[in-house]
Amino acid sequence: YRNLRVALLGAGSVGAQVASLLLEHGPELATRAGAGLELVGIAVRDLDAPRTADLPRELFTTDAESLILGADIVIELMGGIEPARTLILQALGSGADVITGNKALLATHGPELFEMAEQVGAQLYYEAAVAGAIPIIRPLRDSLAGDRIKRILGIVNGTTNFILDRMDTAGESLEQALATATDLGYAEKSDPSADIEGFDAAQKTAILASLAFHTTVPLDLVYREGITGVTLAEVEAAKRAGYVVKLLAICERLTDADGVEGVSARVYPALVPRSHPLAAVHGAKNAVFIEAEAAGDLMFYGAGAGGVETASAVLGDLVSAARRHVIGGPGVAESTHANLPILPISHVTTRY
Ligand code: HSE
Repeated sequence: YRNLRVALLGAGSVGAQVASLLLEHGPELATRAGAGLELVGIAVRDLDAPRTADLPRELFTTDAESLILGADIVIELMGGIEPARTLILQALGSGADVITGNKALLATHGPELFEMAEQVGAQLYYEAAVAGAIPIIRPLRDSLAGDRIKRILGIVNGTTNFILDRMDTAGESLEQALATATDLGYAEKSDPSADIEGFDAAQKTAILASLAFHTTVPLDLVYREGITGVTLAEVEAAKRAGYVVKLLAICERLTDADGVEGVSARVYPALVPRSHPLAAVHGAKNAVFIEAEAAGDLMFYGAGAGGVETASAVLGDLVSAARRHVIGGPGVAESTHANLPILPISHVTTRY
């Protein structure tokens, strides 16, 4: 029975819950994985920062580089580009599999990370990077790999969905709803722009579009419009006309006016008919609606954020990574070979 050494980078809301659940359920997960899962340490910036879980102090270190040396699996939940990028490259370079929830890093440096993983025969898992607890990466990459996806419509930012929902159902202004979202801890107190300006949704859109169309959609080619321009009057007019305003992540296979087939990836407040399943996604929940040629319509719904919810996705990746260690083999390579061009927003022929 092999023992796998697991290093955790970051102990924020998700990281602390991953550590706590792993310590609590380690033996049970180990039987599913076919290998022991030993949490060897947790690298953090500040040893004394408050945590959302009570964790053994001796696990903590500020020396991330030493921690990843000798780890079989590294879980990166620090967020941000650096030092996360360098540490992931180091971990992959040393042959460890890496699990990350870092959408900003994947959306901007994904190809570099996947290339490194492929070179060394390691695997990069990122189920937690899009829509928190909702299983969406594996369904797109594996379950739907034999199909052709036509379009994805996603509610992938809980904060903005909460705000638009309050405007729609409680008649609150955008400012009032944002204040409520901030009080409830959904929107960042210091800078809610990642959510309300659509940056967070755009990062997730780049990841979803790349997976859905087996290509690389760079973040800067994702059209982005946030919700700050949406007024209560518009939400109410939409309601009277039978629509609800949702910030949608749209990934679409399109043919432009010259007959060139390509990918369009865009985020903007869109009018969704009240009869569409996405109209029933309330509060801070997320949902991803997939239109596939053979499978037809599919919808994935659930918690797009939250420490313990997102930890579920991370631990699923951990069991998968551990199984791969036991079985051996290169795992699933990331496909980036479709050569579909990315269509600029001006080529979009249909707006939802
Ligand atoms: N700020 C994000 C949201 C958290 O509101 O959905 C998860 O990425």
